[in-house]
Amino acid sequence: RVLVLDLGAQYTLLIARRVRELGVYCEVLPGDAPAQTILSRKPQAIILSGGPSSVYAEDAPRPDPAVWEAGVPVLGICYGMQLMAHVLGGEVRRGERQEFGRAELEVLAADDGRPGRLFEGIGSPGARMTCWMSHGDLVRRPPPGFRTVARTPLSPVAAMEHGSRPWFGVQFHPEVAHTPFGSELLRHFLYDLAGLRGGWNMHAFVERAVDELRRQVTGGRAVVALSGGVDSSTAAVLAHRALGDRLTAIFVDHGLLRRGEPETVEREIGGRLGVPVTRVDARQRFLTKLAGVVDPEEKRRIIGREFIRVFEESARGVPDVRYLVQGTLYPDVVESGGGRTATIKSHHNVGGLPEQMQLTLVEPFRYLFKDEVRRVARELGLPDAIVHRHPFPGPGLAVRVVGEVTAEALETVRACDAIVQEEVERAGWAGEVWQAFAVWTGAWSVGVKGDARHYGPVIAVRCVQSDDGMTADWVRLPYEVLDRISHRITNEVPTVSRVVYDVSAKPPATIEWE
Ligand code: XMP
Repeated sequence: RVLVLDLGAQYTLLIARRVRELGVYCEVLPGDAPAQTILSRKPQAIILSGGPSSVYAEDAPRPDPAVWEAGVPVLGICYGMQLMAHVLGGEVRRGERQEFGRAELEVLAADDGRPGRLFEGIGSPGARMTCWMSHGDLVRRPPPGFRTVARTPLSPVAAMEHGSRPWFGVQFHPEVAHTPFGSELLRHFLYDLAGLRGGWNMHAFVERAVDELRRQVTGGRAVVALSGGVDSSTAAVLAHRALGDRLTAIFVDHGLLRRGEPETVEREIGGRLGVPVTRVDARQRFLTKLAGVVDPEEKRRIIGREFIRVFEESARGVPDVRYLVQGTLYPDVVESGGGRTATIKSHHNVGGLPEQMQLTLVEPFRYLFKDEVRRVARELGLPDAIVHRHPFPGPGLAVRVVGEVTAEALETVRACDAIVQEEVERAGWAGEVWQAFAVWTGAWSVGVKGDARHYGPVIAVRCVQSDDGMTADWVRLPYEVLDRISHRITNEVPTVSRVVYDVSAKPPATIEWE
């Protein structure tokens, strides 16, 4: 496998993706991962990512020297190359010239007369190719034993390699599409210089993960918390494949899911895929805890805390339980180390670790990204309803009921939400939108139903497009689709006589109303 050490670059994910596209298994580790972690992964090659720092900054991320002692090929990209130059005795100049965007790269004849290895088969000395740059610092002089194998007009050392050891550095970004020969260069590094072979795919991932789970969970039993989402469902099915009856999936039904979701989980994960699922009906318990609570953050805290309590109580009932399987993804791993951004919403995800139980945590997806988990899910035979489920907040419908969460509000918003889902799907828009849902706005209005005055809740419909949930725009659904949604809600949900469409972008609004 290949390790990508994440030194803070926005392109790290892209590097990992490119490597996996070349059919080589790859894991992303934080740049400051200790030697033991690096070596325990038994890497066959290491890639140092770019990053926003300067090697001279006090808090500059610096990988453990184990990288150099692992005896495997290393490729430093951008900041990764500067770091390589700096720690191995070269010279890096700070902020000397900035170089952003396209640049013309010239392949150089190796200065000791031997042909360079990095560009072998890609460009002969004198060849000029377009590459993509984004850096402020630059390498002035490569470290002893290294030679310069490419330059651009602004970077005298745009690529370098060691004379005998398998260490390579590039100042440009081979992982972006703007470097047309980038994939070829990565292929050359992986296949020819590191001797790796393609052939890795989700099928191979599943086999490897099953083996690893069997090795990790040696004695006793394991539990997994099912939430209805793709990550936990896939983790449950994978762990079941590895551990069989030694796994118990606990599905805490907090009553805040959408219509049909608890049934889908039970039918598909429990029934069709045969995972032993224990459904805990905690609906009344959550309603009681939420009674009278109107503050959104307080709701999140209560739901998060209660979820862990209920889960813990059920897990205690599992004999000889020693492990907790969680569907944590790489972005979650990075974020939980975070505190980088201001807290707008606490985003309390249900399914945190029950601390008192002293379970050993097993996270088979901690090196994967969301779309890769979806592919694993498909590989394991999970249904589309789970594989393609839109993002859904951990606290569920509770943050789609503005104000106090009552049984009536939940029932109403659930019924309206089901209509929104059906109509967006039927109109062929489900794949285009990030999320579509109904909101109990907490506002009440006068209407007329059956010739009589009707006073009822105002329901909002929200439908947004987004790449990552950080920013979003409202979707211009065709009027006919909006009309059908409104018509059906006011006809099929007796208490509702007014429906409004939310036309706010994020920012300044957020996606959820709470
Ligand atoms: P906002 O409302 O902050 O939402 O624009 C951005 C994305 O995050 C989801 N979201 C949550 N997810 N726990 C979660 O697991 C939460 O408390 C939570 N609040 C919002 C939201 O659905 C959207 O996809």
